[in-house]
Amino acid sequence: MENCGNGTRTHRRVVLFPLPFQGHINPMLQLANILHTHGFKITVIHAEYNSPNYSNYPHFTFKSIKDNFSEIADELATNPDGSYFINYLNRSCVDSFKECLSGLLDKEAVACLIADAGFYFTQAVADELNLPRMALRTSSLAASLVYGALPFYSNKDCFNLTKEDSDYEERVPEYPLMKFKDIVKITTNPQGMGDFVTNMLDQMKASKGIIWNTFKELEGSLLETFSQDYPVPSFTLGPFHKYFPASSSSLIQQDRTILSWLDNQPPKSTIYVSFGSVAHISELEFREVAYALANISLPFLWVVRPGIVRGSNWIEALPEKFLERVGDMGRIVKWSPQQEVLAHPATGCFWTHNGWNSTLESICEGVPMICSPCFVDQPTNARYVSDVWKIGVFLEDGFERVGIESAIKRVMMDKEGEEMRERINCLKEKVNQSLGEGGSSHESLKSLVDYISSF
Ligand code: UDX
Repeated sequence: MENCGNGTRTHRRVVLFPLPFQGHINPMLQLANILHTHGFKITVIHAEYNSPNYSNYPHFTFKSIKDNFSEIADELATNPDGSYFINYLNRSCVDSFKECLSGLLDKEAVACLIADAGFYFTQAVADELNLPRMALRTSSLAASLVYGALPFYSNKDCFNLTKEDSDYEERVPEYPLMKFKDIVKITTNPQGMGDFVTNMLDQMKASKGIIWNTFKELEGSLLETFSQDYPVPSFTLGPFHKYFPASSSSLIQQDRTILSWLDNQPPKSTIYVSFGSVAHISELEFREVAYALANISLPFLWVVRPGIVRGSNWIEALPEKFLERVGDMGRIVKWSPQQEVLAHPATGCFWTHNGWNSTLESICEGVPMICSPCFVDQPTNARYVSDVWKIGVFLEDGFERVGIESAIKRVMMDKEGEEMRERINCLKEKVNQSLGEGGSSHESLKSLVDYISSF
């Protein structure tokens, strides 16, 4: 090991392998940058689908592997079962990944593989090639605990409850923070989700360690619970985007023109609406969002990702005369520079699907949330935001204009919203402390660097 002038050390190469979706690529490439600044050489193996833009990372080596994802990619627009796509990738990438990784090992010593925890097949490959594997879990600790507790196989029917069922509003005995109406959202396919979760958690346990994009002050007690069943080293050095922004790994061009529009809005006046890179909403839901935003008469910035409304290209389903009615009060864009929008003084609340990156980004900027989770980890994140950390309002009963308007008022105009803002600002402060010298994330990063160096 050699010491550089800037206090970092040069080490061997680390190979990283992200799941090919925006919410997974962002934290993996942020982690790659973090490790690079600590002296590691970086190789990123990636699927053909959603290939990262190499030109933003001239300091990394990229290797593309065959994934056969094009055979099912069209189904993304219609199939709400996320586990189907991830389980498919876990089969379709095995041979090409193994060939690529063993080719790399033939040429150069590699300290370890860091694979997305969702790429559970990589543990067996790493074992076969005698290479230490660490798992990057890009979502919350809470989501992993909830996944581990839920009866995906034993009580599949509970994932199909409807409003008419008496248990719908009740707490789930296996994880009483969650209601049945939350877990119904997690998956449409309990068997497939159960397979994904079981494989992912088993292979996290079999790994040399788990890297979490979270921080101790937020989820430290959950880490203690998790570690009882998963006694492998865990590193909580997040939020990663505070070290490096996500803009360079954005797969869609961010519309930066809205930043100057935001400059003209009063402080904390604007509702920012975005449901991430993979969630879909129905045309009816889309129209309810539009009516609520028009009725509430507050400035809004609404990200409508092309294809988010099933069956629509973009904003064709807007109510008639919507754009004339809102005028300069609102902006609709296809994709935003989200972190900058959240950091902007004009942004007053974030109506989000509670993807983990979005949730962390909101916490880091002290912006209270309105929670509309769609699937997988999002309902868990939303429950923690609303019921545990009390930094947002959960729109529990879906998209309906009266309920939406009332949630917006609670966050933007009521005392309750002010209290949420105080609590989330307190968390924002804790983030900054945890990343500073001697802070928990800072220390965890140092331990991770030492740990990888020890392989
Ligand atoms: C997915 C899952 O849905 C999520 O629940 C899981 O935690 C990670 O994988 P996604 O739905 O895309 O992710 O949500 P999220 O985790 O919030 O990630 C979205 C990323 O895209 C964020 O980093 C956000 O800053 C970025 N983004 C989003 C933009 O850059 N512009 C936008 O307009 C919207």
